[in-house]
This record gives sequence, structure tokens and C-alpha cells, in this order.
Amino acid sequence: MEFSSIHISIWFIFTQPIFLLFLFSSASSRLAGNEVDRLSLLAFKAEIVTDTLGILSSWNESLHFCRWPGITCGRRHQRVTVLDLRSSGMAGHLSPHIGNLSFLRALNLQNNSFSHTIPPEIGRLFRLERLRLHNNSFSGHIPFNISRCSNLQYLNLYRNTLSGKLPTEIASLSKLRLLKLGRNNFHGKIPPSFGNLSSLEVLSASHNNLHGGIPNSLGQLKSLTFFALSANYLNGTIPPSIYHLSSIKFIYMHRNNLHGTFPPGLGHTMFSNLEIFNFHTNQFTGPVPASISNASNLSLFCISHNKFTGKVPNLAHLSNLYWFAINHNNLGNNVEGELDFVSSLVNCTNLQILSISANNFGGVLTESISNLSTKLRGIYFDENQIHGNIPVRVGNLINLETLYFNDNLLTGTLPSSIVN
Ligand SMILES: *[C@@H]1O[C@H](CO)[C@@H](O)[C@H](O)[C@H]1NC(C)=O
Ligand SMILES: *[C@@H]1O[C@H](CO)[C@@H](O)[C@H](O)[C@H]1NC(C)=O
Ligand SMILES: *[C@@H]1O[C@H](CO)[C@@H](O)[C@H](O)[C@H]1NC(C)=O
Ligand SMILES: *[C@@H]1O[C@H](CO)[C@@H](O)[C@H](O)[C@H]1NC(C)=O
Ligand SMILES: *[C@@H]1O[C@H](CO)[C@@H](O)[C@H](O)[C@H]1NC(C)=O
Ligand SMILES: *[C@@H]1O[C@H](CO)[C@@H](O)[C@H](O)[C@H]1NC(C)=O
Ligand SMILES: *[C@@H]1O[C@H](CO)[C@@H](O)[C@H](O)[C@H]1NC(C)=O
Ligand SMILES: *[C@@H]1O[C@H](CO)[C@@H](O)[C@H](O)[C@H]1NC(C)=O
Ligand SMILES: *[C@@H]1O[C@H](CO)[C@@H](O)[C@H](O)[C@H]1NC(C)=O
Repeated sequence: MEFSSIHISIWFIFTQPIFLLFLFSSASSRLAGNEVDRLSLLAFKAEIVTDTLGILSSWNESLHFCRWPGITCGRRHQRVTVLDLRSSGMAGHLSPHIGNLSFLRALNLQNNSFSHTIPPEIGRLFRLERLRLHNNSFSGHIPFNISRCSNLQYLNLYRNTLSGKLPTEIASLSKLRLLKLGRNNFHGKIPPSFGNLSSLEVLSASHNNLHGGIPNSLGQLKSLTFFALSANYLNGTIPPSIYHLSSIKFIYMHRNNLHGTFPPGLGHTMFSNLEIFNFHTNQFTGPVPASISNASNLSLFCISHNKFTGKVPNLAHLSNLYWFAINHNNLGNNVEGELDFVSSLVNCTNLQILSISANNFGGVLTESISNLSTKLRGIYFDENQIHGNIPVRVGNLINLETLYFNDNLLTGTLPSSIVN
């Protein structure tokens, strides 16, 4: 009788998660913390309405929450440090209880269908280092309380439906290395305070409704390698301090209303590490600096649909160049020899797109076109003043899909090699 009762109570103890926790934990304060984490996760689960992969069905009492899929716990305290449910086909809201997971270092919910707002309770996660909510349907403002996550290094909110102004408070996140805000509905100006994000390497706010100028203070971001503000309504000039950020490799400023001229040292003393330079569809004027040929890692150079004038420099050293587009400008003066830069591209063995359409280039097409990279897919030379014959060996360019020579002053016959 006695034996059987003891047996029953031991069985009882071992089946109750709360007692199990007690057995594996010595201090009662840790037990309380564990229980808060468990309740927070269940509250998180309760706000998920669609769970395509059925992941959350295994968030049940049969397993300790540290072993639930998507959860990582710290070994010592058995507290949740990572909640990673990326690309899980989930839809629902993000519960405010998330703010109770006080040991959380990473919250990765990217590439799901979370909607509604980002709860301000997120600001209670003072240990949080990575917050990845990109590719969802979060709406409303960025809670300014996020500025209390003082250990945050990665904040990715790309591709949601967030709106309102960019909170100037974000600037206090001094450890932030990545800030991606692109493809949302943000409006207003870029806060000058962002220049205080001294650890920033990636700053992207493309595809929003941002107005006004680019703050001078952003020239303080000495570690910036990726800088994207394209597809907004930004105006004014690029502050000179920005051109001195020699760390920049990728810069996307296209589809704005920016104006000004490029400094002569652009690719030499300034952006010497450039790989991608996209400034199309703005109001820039003046010449294309000869120094771009010194940016030896340049792979994409696109300044289409601006108001550039003058001669195009020699580009012989750009062996990684695959996209060169200067169409729809006022380049060229309809004089002989100004297509020499085309011959200088013969060493660019990766070239795929070459577009000089809708400018004022004169002169003749030389046979060197036939010696350009056989990787070329598109040659766009239409709407210029080019005269003479079409090079006879143009058919060497066996991967060519598009060849526009129309609206020029070309004469003679179509070379037979064109059948290649
Ligand atoms: C509880 O989770 C386990 C996996 O951890 C799973 O096998 C079981 O089906 C789940 N129970 C329910 C009722 O969903
Ligand atoms: C995003 O999630 C979908 C399924 O919902 C998946 O097919 C796709 O591969 C994911 N994308 C990435 C980049 O993980
Ligand atoms: C957790 O967070 C919610 C919402 O912020 C709060 O109402 C609740 O009292 C907190 N504490 C626990 C132990 O769940
Ligand atoms: C985001 O979603 C798009 C479209 O659903 C998908 O193509 C892309 O791979 C996703 N990206 C990430 C980083 O999950
Ligand atoms: C937001 O931060 C303020 C202090 O800056 C604090 O008083 C408030 O409780 C926080 N809100 C939430 C929901 O944590
Ligand atoms: C940047 O931080 C300094 C102090 O670190 C502060 O005085 C200044 O106001 C901040 N700048 C902006 C634009 O917020
Ligand atoms: C930029 O546009 C705003 C209106 O959105 C205007 O008030 C301002 O003067 C413009 N600034 C420059 C430098 O063109
Ligand atoms: C070009 O790229 C290579 C490889 O990423 C790198 O080692 C080199 O320093 C770069 N050169 C310049 C001038 O940026
Ligand atoms: C390219 O760099 C060399 C030295 O590294 C320099 O002499 C030359 O003037 C530069 N060219 C341009 C166009 O800046």
C-alpha cells in the first residue's frame, strides 16, 4: 500500500513539467524565469493563425520548450536565446509577450506572413543582437522603444508594409551594423541622427517615400560598404562627405531627384573599392570622371537617364565590368573618335550589357566592337549620330540577344556574319 502510493507520487512528479524543471534547476529564481519563457512562447504560439508546416503542433507538453523546433536555449540557465522560425509559412501577429523572453539574442521571423504591428515590448529585449523581420506584412510605425535594444547589431525590416517616419531614436543603437528599411511605406526625411550609427556597414532605405536631402552627417559612417537609397523622392546633391567614404562597395541612388556633378577623383581617391554604382534616373550633370577606370573592381556602372555631358573615358582596366549603361544623357559632341572608349572595353571579358543609346555620339563604329566579350547579351547604340558601316565581324558576339543600331546615320549592307 505504502509502496504503491510512493510510486504514484514519483510518477506524478515526473510527468509534471514544472517539477521536472525543479529537478534540473537549483535556484527558484531560475525556475521562475523558465516558466516566464514557457508562457511567453505559448502566448507567441496563440497569436499564430496559420502554421503551414505544422511546426507549432510540437510546441506541446511532451517536450521541454528548449527542445521545441525553432528554439535555442542557453545551456546554463535554460532560457530562450534564439527564436528562429524563418521561412516557416506562418501567418499571424507577433505577441507583445515576446518582450518577456528577456534572454533573447536573436529573433528571426523573416520570410513569413506576420501582419499587424511590431509590439513596442520588443524594446524590453536588452540582450537582443539580431532582429530579422524582413519579408513579412508588418504594418504601422517602427516602435521608438526599439532604441532600448542597445545590443542590437542587425535590424532587418526590408519588404514589409511599415509606414510613418523613420524614428530618429534608432540612432542611439551604437552597435548597429546592418539597418535595412527598404521596400516599405516610410515617408518624411532621413534623420540626420543616423550619422551617429558609427558601426553601420549596411544602410538601405530604398523603395520608400522619403523626401528631402541626404544628410551631410551620413558622411561620418566610415564603415559603410552597402548604401542604398534608390526609388524615393530625395532631392539636393550628394554631400561631399559621402564621396569620401572609401569603404563603399555598393551604392544605389537610382530613381530619385538628385542633382550635381561627380567629383574628378570619384573612382580613384574616393570610391576606390566600388563594385556597384547605380545612379540612373536623376538630374546629374557634367562629365563622367576619368577616374572611374581606377575603381578596378567595378562591375556595374549605370548612370542612364541623367544629363551628363562630354567625353566618355578609357575603361580598359575594368576587368570585372559586366554592366555599363550611360544611355539617355547628353554625352558626346558628334565628333570623330569619341567612340574610342568602346575599343577600350575589349579587355572587359565579363561585359554583358553595353548601352549608350539616346546620346549625341558621332564618329564611326570600328571593327573592335567584334572583339568585345563574347559574353555580351545586349548592345544598345540606337538614337545617336553614328555613321559608317556595321562592323563585318559583329557575328563573333555569339551570345548577343539584342543589337540596337537604329536611329543613327549608318550606311552599307548588313554583314553576313550576323546570322551567327
Ligand atoms: C507533441 O509534440 C510531439 C513532438 O515533439 C509530437 O510528436 C506530438 O504529435 C505532439 N502532440 C500533439 C497533441 O500535437
Ligand atoms: C521563403 O519562404 C518560401 C515558403 O514560404 C520558400 O519557398 C522560399 O524558399 C523562402 N525564401 C528564402 C530566401 O528562404
Ligand atoms: C509578459 O508580457 C505581457 C505583455 O507585455 C504581460 O501582460 C505579462 O504580465 C508579462 N509577464 C508574464 C509572466 O507573462
Ligand atoms: C522574400 O520573398 C520573396 C517573394 O516571396 C522571395 O522571392 C525571396 O526569396 C524572399 N527573400 C528572403 C530573404 O526571404
Ligand atoms: C517604452 O519605453 C518607455 C521608456 O522609454 C517605457 O516607459 C515604456 O514602458 C516602454 N514600453 C513598453 C511597451 O515596453
Ligand atoms: C550624435 O551624438 C552626439 C553625442 O554622441 C550628439 O551630441 C548629437 O546630437 C548626435 N547627433 C545627432 C544628429 O543626433
Ligand atoms: C527638395 O524638395 C523640397 C520639397 O519636397 C523643397 O522644399 C526643397 O527646396 C528641395 N530642395 C532642394 C535642394 O532642391
Ligand atoms: C577587389 O576585390 C578583391 C576581392 O574581393 C579584393 O581583395 C581587393 O582588395 C579589391 N580591390 C579593390 C581596389 O577594391
Ligand atoms: C589612376 O591611378 C593612378 C595611380 O594609381 C594615377 O596616376 C592616375 O592618375 C589615376 N587615374 C585617374 C583617371 O584618376
